[in-house]
Amino acid sequence: MVRNIVRGGIAVLGSTGSIGTQALDVARALNMRVAALAAESNIALLEAQAREHSVPLVAVRDTRAADELAKRLRDTRTRVVPGEGGIRQAAVAPGAETVVVAVVGAAGILPTLDALEAGMRVALANKETLVCAGKLVMESARDHGADILPVDSEHSAIFQCLQGRAVAERLILTASGGPFRGMDAAALKSVTPEMALRHPNWNMGRKISIDSATMMNKGFEVIEAMHLFSMPLERIKVLVHPQSVVHSMVEYTDGAVIAQLGPADMRIPIQYALTYPERDPAPAGTLDLTAVGALTFEEPDEGTFPSLGIARRAAALGGTACAVLNGANDTAVRMFLENRISFDMIPALVGAALDKLPIEKNPSLQDIISAVDSASGFVERMCS
Ligand SMILES: NC(=O)c1ccc[n+]([C@@H]2O[C@H](COP(=O)([O-])OP(=O)(O)OC[C@H]3O[C@@H](n4cnc5c(N)ncnc54)[C@H](OP(=O)(O)O)[C@@H]3O)[C@@H](O)[C@H]2O)c1
Repeated sequence: MVRNIVRGGIAVLGSTGSIGTQALDVARALNMRVAALAAESNIALLEAQAREHSVPLVAVRDTRAADELAKRLRDTRTRVVPGEGGIRQAAVAPGAETVVVAVVGAAGILPTLDALEAGMRVALANKETLVCAGKLVMESARDHGADILPVDSEHSAIFQCLQGRAVAERLILTASGGPFRGMDAAALKSVTPEMALRHPNWNMGRKISIDSATMMNKGFEVIEAMHLFSMPLERIKVLVHPQSVVHSMVEYTDGAVIAQLGPADMRIPIQYALTYPERDPAPAGTLDLTAVGALTFEEPDEGTFPSLGIARRAAALGGTACAVLNGANDTAVRMFLENRISFDMIPALVGAALDKLPIEKNPSLQDIISAVDSASGFVERMCS
């Protein structure tokens, strides 16, 4: 339940990425103050962003890149802070009331927890944080009276469908099916990273594009929805909807289904997370349903795309199983992008990590971080 109306400054973690740059588009359009930025190493773009928005604090995870950026920004009032510690400082920067967490992977966990502990609103794009540490993150939000607003389009859709209504019976997450929908398992063996990066409807970062192609992204989203909306796993359904117009749906006990529709433009859910409960005009175009023509729905092909079932298995196991899922997937995706393994090896390696690695049932934060690392190491060893 989101309580507060917030419309102050923002911090954007992962500001140079797909979500981060779109969050800054929204900030520009709404004239919002940007109190902090953070990224891994793209200092050319960080410098331009810092200058445009007169940002007081910029964090760069790569320490050498941070030194170089500090030199470049010497003529400004921007302070540059390095390393993971710097990213965590940016998450709770003075003047930021909302932090957009749009870094990729498990790097989102600690800054998200820091922001929640500080009672800030978190506009959460980084689904891996909830996949790995959903229970701890939701508990922290509750304990500190902090709000988490979903940025993922499906979860933003569900959040919007739930406004002011009774408890939902089922959540229905839609999935585009990715670039390989309709292909068979034999054909998937030879797909290349370039083919996998070409998503039919969304222009996204490299890692999430591969997750969409394997459908692990939808598995992650099922886990994300479980935590965000306190919904049991078996009451979250996935439907393939290739047009990406219906962003997700909620089914109520009387059989009524409420859906949220809109153009496939991430600036809409980003903006809603920043302005909730208000709505402002958005730079995205309006939805022309006559141009879309037909909306179609089909069951996911879990035989050809086993990742969704693997993610459900991890969710049912609980404890550190989802951290293992994330760590193994992260490394397998990186290896595929480096042309070191074939596409069909991604789910094979993630499934093997889940079978072989020990699961801690009641994990601490440190157990979760260790589980991510050991799953990543497991995949590296399997492929060396
Ligand atoms: N893109 C979408 O449409 C979309 C939709 C829904 C959810 N999401 C989720 O949003 C998150 C971001 O996705 P994206 O597509 O925007 O990714 P992206 O384009 O690859 O951008 C990632 C951003 O995170 C930064 N970064 C990477 N590792 C970091 C680290 N260890 N510490 C600090 N910063 C780090 C990158 O900096 P550099 O540029 O310097 O490398 C970049 O700014 C992911 O969790 C994804 O699942 C994305």
